[in-house]
Amino acid sequence: MCKINYLSKSADDTVGFAITFAEKLKPGDVVTLWGDMGAGKTTFTRGLAWGLGIPRKCPITSPTFTLVNEYSGRLTLYHIDLYRVQATEDLETLPLREILFGDGVAVVEWPEKLGEVLPENRWDVRIKIVDENSRRIEIEQIGADEP
Ligand SMILES: Nc1ncnc2c1ncn2[C@@H]1O[C@H](COP(=O)(O)OP(=O)(O)OP(=O)(O)O)[C@@H](O)[C@H]1O
Ligand SMILES: [Mg+2]
Repeated sequence: MCKINYLSKSADDTVGFAITFAEKLKPGDVVTLWGDMGAGKTTFTRGLAWGLGIPRKCPITSPTFTLVNEYSGRLTLYHIDLYRVQATEDLETLPLREILFGDGVAVVEWPEKLGEVLPENRWDVRIKIVDENSRRIEIEQIGADEP
């Protein structure tokens, strides 16, 4: 099992940490981002995108109307934000299974909303607010035999 624990001191620090973490990602990986509003889930996703070779000129912001943004890099990145999902029927507008079990990398903000679709094999990233500029980031690989 692979567990990483990091104390980030700034948003840029979180981006840099996520860039390095992205090296571990393989086709089909799912990254679930757990944390309160403003914890830094989207900031972390920006680093993942850059680490996957998505051009830095691409703005990495939360998907607004579609729930998912798709970017092409070393791997395809699907950025899913389920904050506005209220009922499981809202998920049906998404090709969720294709995205989560396909060959790209899926990053999910508010994975609590996935319910039974939450994949067993995934990277859990937990971001806790310590103070204004500090975040505790814990990463655990769940369900995989090999780290
Ligand atoms: N160490 C840090 N890591 C990440 N973000 C930080 C850090 N310190 C301060 N911040 C600030 O916290 C905010 C994090 O915002 P971000 O949109 O990434 O959060 P989020 O978890 O995606 O929120 P939401 O649930 O609303 O989508 C940004 O304004 C960022 O500058
Ligand atoms: Mg966000």
